Amino acid sequence: MNDFIIAPSILSADFARLGEEVDNVLEAGADIIHFDVMDNHYVPNLTIGPMVCKALRKHGVTADIDVHLMVKPVDRMIGDFIEAGASIITFHPEASEHIDRSLQMIRAGGCKAGLVFNPATPLHYLKHVMDKVDMILLMSVNPGFGGQSFIPGTLDKLREARALIDASGYDIRLEVDGGVSEKNIAEIAKAGADTFVAGSAIFGKDNYKQVIDTMRKELAG
Ligand code: DX5
Ligand code: ZN
Repeated sequence: MNDFIIAPSILSADFARLGEEVDNVLEAGADIIHFDVMDNHYVPNLTIGPMVCKALRKHGVTADIDVHLMVKPVDRMIGDFIEAGASIITFHPEASEHIDRSLQMIRAGGCKAGLVFNPATPLHYLKHVMDKVDMILLMSVNPGFGGQSFIPGTLDKLREARALIDASGYDIRLEVDGGVSEKNIAEIAKAGADTFVAGSAIFGKDNYKQVIDTMRKELAG
């Protein structure tokens, strides 16, 4: 995998042509696909579930699918997404009654596991599970919708998370999600992120390759 991972969020893709959109964005240089699952309960929006993940696999998508669960409760969806071909599964700690168990379920199913932190959720949930996470995802918007503005306080939180990862010695990706674009990606990387979710910044443009190339140039400094 690249040092920096660009993960387009299909939340902003054209759902009527989803297979084609995913093919196009991967061909344009995306590393993995970010898959937003919303349940109209944990977050005030409703999106897609395991059937759609399975359909993308059937369509021939071999890239990693990064499933971001914004659902409560989480455990049933973990099993369904493992079955459906997810590669990475992340969930919000407040949405799980048993965080350690949910993380273990994900790894036992052969997927990478991660925790997601809303802008106001403290990182202390990590304290006793650093050995059980492969990814830490910091939300830089309140979850539920694409196209919102990056919350600047996320930069300090990224630095805090980066310090925790470095001190732990574990191989953990630090992902950021919400309001990421070619304009702020360099600054976000400097704060410690290595994996970048971008929905509207990529799918909102006609030329996906141009945006992704610009992002990589920005990341290269
Ligand atoms: C928001 C989702 C994001 C969203 C990001 O709840 O988790 O993945 O698609 O969209 P942009 O990049 O447009 O902010
Ligand atoms: Zn997301």
